[in-house]
Amino acid sequence: MSSVLVLNGPNLGRLGSREPDVYGSQDLDSLRQLLETDAAGRLSIDLRQTNDEAELVSWLYEAVDTATPVILNPAAFTHYSYALRDAAALVTKAGVPLIEVHISNPHARETFRHTSVISGIATGVIAGFGFGSYRLALASLLWR
Ligand code: DQA
Repeated sequence: MSSVLVLNGPNLGRLGSREPDVYGSQDLDSLRQLLETDAAGRLSIDLRQTNDEAELVSWLYEAVDTATPVILNPAAFTHYSYALRDAAALVTKAGVPLIEVHISNPHARETFRHTSVISGIATGVIAGFGFGSYRLALASLLWR
């Protein structure tokens, strides 16, 4: 079965207890279960989280080398990591889809969140739908 990499950046390992008013009260295990249900055996869900920029970059190389589509929540790296942007560009330039997702709508929050250095090279961007942002991204991969 083909896989999708669902990559999550810093502090998303704390979902469930982190700012539930912004991010809800469900954790990454619940997200994995939701996505597995949606995928219904058509794609295998490889969900990972790291606080480490280098690890995230290495996972994007893996996506290029294995031609595996990516759903990426870069978290705070969204707003300033040119290293992550360059690695994400390798994915989409290789013709592999990479969808940027956010649980919240960063444009409705602090000004520093209004900039994404990732969006310009992403296949698409989905934000503001809670875990629904990941589900919509997965749906777009299942339509292909
Ligand atoms: C986030 C939004 C970012 O601004 C923030 O730094 C996060 C989570 C989101 O999913 O809404 O960590 O990417």
